[in-house]
Amino acid sequence: MALRTISIYRGDSGGGRFVDFQVDVEEGNVVLDVVLKVQAEQAPDLAVRWNCKAGRCGSCSAEINGHPRLMCMTRMSMFPADRPVYVAPLKTFPLVKDLVTDVSLNYQIAKTIPPFQPRPPDPDGLYRMSQEDVDRVQEFRRCIECFLCQNVCHVIRDHPENKARFYGPRWFVRLAELEMHPLDTADRRQLIREMAGVGFCNVTKCCTEVCPEHIKITDNAIIPLKERVVDLYFDPLRWLADRLKGKRPGAVGAQQ
Ligand code: SF4
Ligand code: SF4
Ligand code: FES
Repeated sequence: MALRTISIYRGDSGGGRFVDFQVDVEEGNVVLDVVLKVQAEQAPDLAVRWNCKAGRCGSCSAEINGHPRLMCMTRMSMFPADRPVYVAPLKTFPLVKDLVTDVSLNYQIAKTIPPFQPRPPDPDGLYRMSQEDVDRVQEFRRCIECFLCQNVCHVIRDHPENKARFYGPRWFVRLAELEMHPLDTADRRQLIREMAGVGFCNVTKCCTEVCPEHIKITDNAIIPLKERVVDLYFDPLRWLADRLKGKRPGAVGAQQ
């Protein structure tokens, strides 16, 4: 057991500040343990969101010493014992109170994405998929919706006005999961370009670096989605083929 200083952001949409707390930290404690100890013993009105304490629910996202992390998966022993550990709410989303932000924008975006639309089964009633195709989308299904990738993406972190025209990395993962599913028949490419704004992503990979599920967001989701959009809008042969099938939106030569 050792006495440590944890500095937690306290405030709401009107403003706030870091407040220091001295806490007895036990070996193996994670940041969430210490925040909950502060709530139990020193600041009962401290707002903090968590559910599983096992890295599965994605609720406890925060900025710890400036880095987006899950509080329940971040050990206090990672940080020097003689300095405070700073815990702040996600910056990209509006602050509700203390460490709790309003992430409801993400659920509004989710509603705009056409759901899985499977093709009919084979004549014997079964669906058949190659293991390679299944493996490709399994990576995307690991997402726990912690929104750490959304938080770190500079397109919306530094420019809140872009939130209306850029879905963000979590939603490119979801779109890739659906678009690459071997049984899915929906064509979401127009949405990916025009509403989701995939062209705003300049492939900095910051989202990939913070994903606690180690999803290769940029390489495996965003870049393939960009390629699909290019195929749709800029490949004249694909454009003609799709046009003949009557499924192409937009006009050839449209801007990405
Ligand atoms: S790679 Fe794209 S989506 Fe990911 S953080 Fe960078 S700009 Fe945002
Ligand atoms: S893609 Fe990764 S960082 Fe983004 S919400 Fe899902 S689990 Fe979190
Ligand atoms: S409490 Fe569920 S991920 Fe941290």
